[in-house]
Amino acid sequence: MSNFIKINNKINNFNKTITVPGDKSLSIRWVLFSSMALGNSKALNLLLSDDVLAAIKTVKKFGINVKLNKKSCTIYGNGLYGYNYKKNIIINAENSGTLGRLIMGILIDTPHKIKIIGDKSLSRRDFYRIAEPLNKFGAKINLTKNGLPLTIEGNKNLSPIRYLEHRGSAQCKSSVIFAGLKTKGRTFIKAKKSRNHTELLCKHLNLPIKVNETKNYDLIEVSKAKKIKPLNYKIPSDISSAAFFIVLTALSDNSELLIKNVNINPSRIGIITILKKMGVNIKFKNKKKYKGETIANIFVNSSKKLKAINCPKKFNSLAIDEFLVIFLIAAKSNGISYFKDISELNKKESPRLKWASKILNKIGIKTISTESSIKIFGNPNLRVNKRIEIKGYLKDHRVFMTSVIAALAFGGTWFIHDKDSIRTSFPTFLSIIKNLSK
Ligand code: S3P
Repeated sequence: MSNFIKINNKINNFNKTITVPGDKSLSIRWVLFSSMALGNSKALNLLLSDDVLAAIKTVKKFGINVKLNKKSCTIYGNGLYGYNYKKNIIINAENSGTLGRLIMGILIDTPHKIKIIGDKSLSRRDFYRIAEPLNKFGAKINLTKNGLPLTIEGNKNLSPIRYLEHRGSAQCKSSVIFAGLKTKGRTFIKAKKSRNHTELLCKHLNLPIKVNETKNYDLIEVSKAKKIKPLNYKIPSDISSAAFFIVLTALSDNSELLIKNVNINPSRIGIITILKKMGVNIKFKNKKKYKGETIANIFVNSSKKLKAINCPKKFNSLAIDEFLVIFLIAAKSNGISYFKDISELNKKESPRLKWASKILNKIGIKTISTESSIKIFGNPNLRVNKRIEIKGYLKDHRVFMTSVIAALAFGGTWFIHDKDSIRTSFPTFLSIIKNLSK
């Protein structure tokens, strides 16, 4: 079967209700917490994507029993110190930065050296950022040129650390929280605001964590945990997946969409705040609380007048995975949009800021970009009328999906390669698109 998709028609108007799959960050965290719990944990609506399956394969390597079927997943945890560490284990984090970095915090006390590898994309990403604080606890981490493959050897006599997380990286923060849960004494983290699922799960599980929220930073104190209780969890839908459909609806004519049961945790809804400021009509309906998270249905409809934005940098880590699609809104806005201090985008599955410019330029939108910013010269009458080919983007799932949304929203004849990349985070992406067009 060919691994590219050809799109040569804009999507017809639609008025639908859809559900997108479970949240990736929460799915991976559920697998990791449950693997260290004492007893059986069950998840419903777990995201069955390659990143989450890689997390399941990883905990299985540590002797954890997992039963997975289409409806649910059960993990039979052996306790906080219940991993069965065999010698010469190799963990393959595949494409997942979240798995690769979070598991390192959990392995802070491994008695044997463990090797962590990943795919081509993950192997070019920065692991020094997490090796540095974990080495301070007393682990020994050897990196290859700041990245993978790496080896980690733990320590039973760990010392708590003080850690300043200044990038707004939830992965770094979470990895240090996991290490802190296994370390005697108090670990202090001052973390620039970023998604807080790990903290919320710790609180829900009554683990020894205190969080003091200030304007730009969270002050977190973690102590050694005695045990983790099992965690039954119904994973809410992923706003990062919903984002593609929010943007497609806003850019399409005479369309309306309701996306059900989405996790609208305030640390994840940067995209909503940004798009509202740009003139997109979005409403949350039936808001409710679930185990510390907030869930709602998201309503969005076609937007007639889109406005450029000078995006405040305080939204950056709250919208970090959504910028590529946000840029499509900027492409059709009136005026010049400016996004700054987003060098982290180039450290993702592909150098995304570069790919954003490439895609926007291909559709005739002028951009001026630096290593950490982009100016997008919007065109409210944007229509694409040529052949566009997208390939060689390190199979970055979000580059693929953004290109599909651009094709459906702006027209042209698109050949978008590596469609398998959606398996990383959103395997049902193309089937939802098919349903929308029916
Ligand atoms: C994630 C954190 C973010 C995000 C990634 C998922 C997480 O990465 O981009 O897709 O689940 O903690 P950083 O923490 O590196 O910014």
